[in-house]
Amino acid sequence: MSELQKSSSGVPPRFSEEAMRQVEVIFQRYPADRRDSAVMPVLHLAQKEFGGWLSQEALDYVAEVVGMPPIRVYEVATFYTMYNLKPVGTYHVQVCTNISCWLCASDEIVRALQNKLQLSFGESSKDGRFTLSEVECLGACVNAPMLQINDDYYENLTPAKVSEIIDQLP
Ligand code: FES
Repeated sequence: MSELQKSSSGVPPRFSEEAMRQVEVIFQRYPADRRDSAVMPVLHLAQKEFGGWLSQEALDYVAEVVGMPPIRVYEVATFYTMYNLKPVGTYHVQVCTNISCWLCASDEIVRALQNKLQLSFGESSKDGRFTLSEVECLGACVNAPMLQINDDYYENLTPAKVSEIIDQLP
């Protein structure tokens, strides 16, 4: 599977004790014999724990934790855009260009971001601060156009607002 990237350290990642406690809480949402149903929230937790992206080693580890064959975890992780399969910057800027946002001029938002960050989609800044991604509907169509930076949504955007948002990031 060519999309998967190995971690540069080569050290297999492991959940911290606290993260393992969170995994146990996640498992409790599912029948005891269906731990594999927890694969998506465990992948989400792994992404947070392991620096914002999922290396092949991280996916293998999640497979071990949830008791699934690695290939099935790869299938899930490569299907959904919210799983980052290569390193991302400190701020992962994800712009929705799906139909509602597009109808509300997401093209202008994209242009403003690309100019501000000097990045195209899929690129990261050299200083490691920003990654710019194009994403499908993030479920905030009512306030389109919108974008997500890490865990935060920014809605009802204009090109001027986009510039302010980027400038205000610490
Ligand atoms: Fe952009 Fe739904 S189309 S949030």
